[in-house]
Amino acid sequence: MNTQKIIFSGVQPTGNLHLGNYLGAIKQWVNLQKVYDCIFCVVDYHAITVRQNPDQLRRQVLDTAKIYLACGINPKKSLIFRQSDINEHAELAWILNCTGARMSDLENMTQYKDKAGKDANASVGLFDYPVLMAADILLYQTNLVPVGHDQVQHLELTRDLAKRFNHDFGQVFTIPEVQLQKTGARIMGLDDPTKKMSKSAASPANFIALTDEPEVARKKIMRAVTDSGAEVIYDPETKPAISNLLTIYHLLSGIDIKTLVKKYQGRGYGDFKKDLAEVVAEFLTDFQAKLERFSDEEVEKIFARGAKKLKPIAKETVKNVKEKLGLL
Ligand code: TYM
Repeated sequence: MNTQKIIFSGVQPTGNLHLGNYLGAIKQWVNLQKVYDCIFCVVDYHAITVRQNPDQLRRQVLDTAKIYLACGINPKKSLIFRQSDINEHAELAWILNCTGARMSDLENMTQYKDKAGKDANASVGLFDYPVLMAADILLYQTNLVPVGHDQVQHLELTRDLAKRFNHDFGQVFTIPEVQLQKTGARIMGLDDPTKKMSKSAASPANFIALTDEPEVARKKIMRAVTDSGAEVIYDPETKPAISNLLTIYHLLSGIDIKTLVKKYQGRGYGDFKKDLAEVVAEFLTDFQAKLERFSDEEVEKIFARGAKKLKPIAKETVKNVKEKLGLL
C-alpha cells in the first residue's frame, strides 16, 4: 500500500499568470514534490466557465504547463496533466452536484460573487465551478492541497462534499487538508493593496506577470502604491502596501522580513523599491530563460504520461462512487 501523502493542485490557463500565483501556490509545490507524490493539473475545464478563444486556450494550456516546469516542477517526480484528458473530472462533478452540493453552498462562494457579480449571463459552469474543483481533488484521494488564500472556501466545500458522500453512501473519499504558505498566501495588488493580485485585474499595473519584460516589471514596482509615511515597516494592518512589497522581496530573495526592515531603516521607500525592482527583474530574467527551454512536443508527452498514470486512479474512484449509488 502507498503510504505517501498525495498532493493535488492546479492553475487555470487563463490571463496572465503572475507573482501571486507563483509565490502563493506554485512555489510551495516545488518544495512539496521533494517529499510527497504530487499531481499538478492544468484546469482547462475551469477555464471555459468564461468564454475563451479556442486557439488562445490551446496555447495557454501548453504555456501554463511550461510555467510549472520553469518554476521547478520536475516531471520525473511529479505528474502533470491536462484536466480535460481525464473525463472522470466532469463525471464526478455531476455526481457531486446531485449527491452533496447545495444551491446555498454555491451561493455563498465569494469568488463566484466577485466574478459573476450581477451578470445575468454568467454561465452555470461559473456558479458550479467549486464542485468541479472538489471532483478534481477527490478523484485522486488527495491528502493536501497547496493553494493561495482565495481557494480556502472552495477547499472547505470540498471537505463538506466528501464527508456528506461518505456519511450518506459509504466510505469512498479521503478528506483533504488545505496547505497555505506562512507568508505569501495572499499577495496583494500593486495598484491597490487592499485587494489580491489578480489575473483578471482591470489594469496591468495590478500585477507582475511571469512573462513581463524585466524592464516593465521594474517600472511596475517603482510605481507601486505605497502607504502614508516613509518608513519601511512590516504591518499588514496599517501598512498594507509596504508589507506586501516586503513579502514579495522576502519570498524572492530568501532574506527574512526582519532583516529587510533593519536594512532599510531610515532610508525611505525609494531605495527599498529600487532594490526590490532589481530582485524582481533578476528573478524574471532567470525564470524566462528557463521557460524558453521547453517545447510544445515535450509538454504533450508530459501530459500523455500524466494522463496514462492518473486515468486508472480516477476510474477506480468513479467506479467505487457508482457502486455506492447503485449505478453499477
Ligand atoms: P487560479 O488559477 O485562480 O490560481 C492559481 C493558484 O494561485 C493562487 N493565487 C494566489 N496566491 C496568492 N496571492 C494571490 N494574489 C493569488 N492569486 C491566485 C490561487 O489560490 C491558486 O492556488 N480554482 C483554482 C484552480 C483549481 C484547483 C483545483 C486548485 C481547479 N481545481 C484543485 C487546487 C485544487 C483557481 O482558479 O486558481
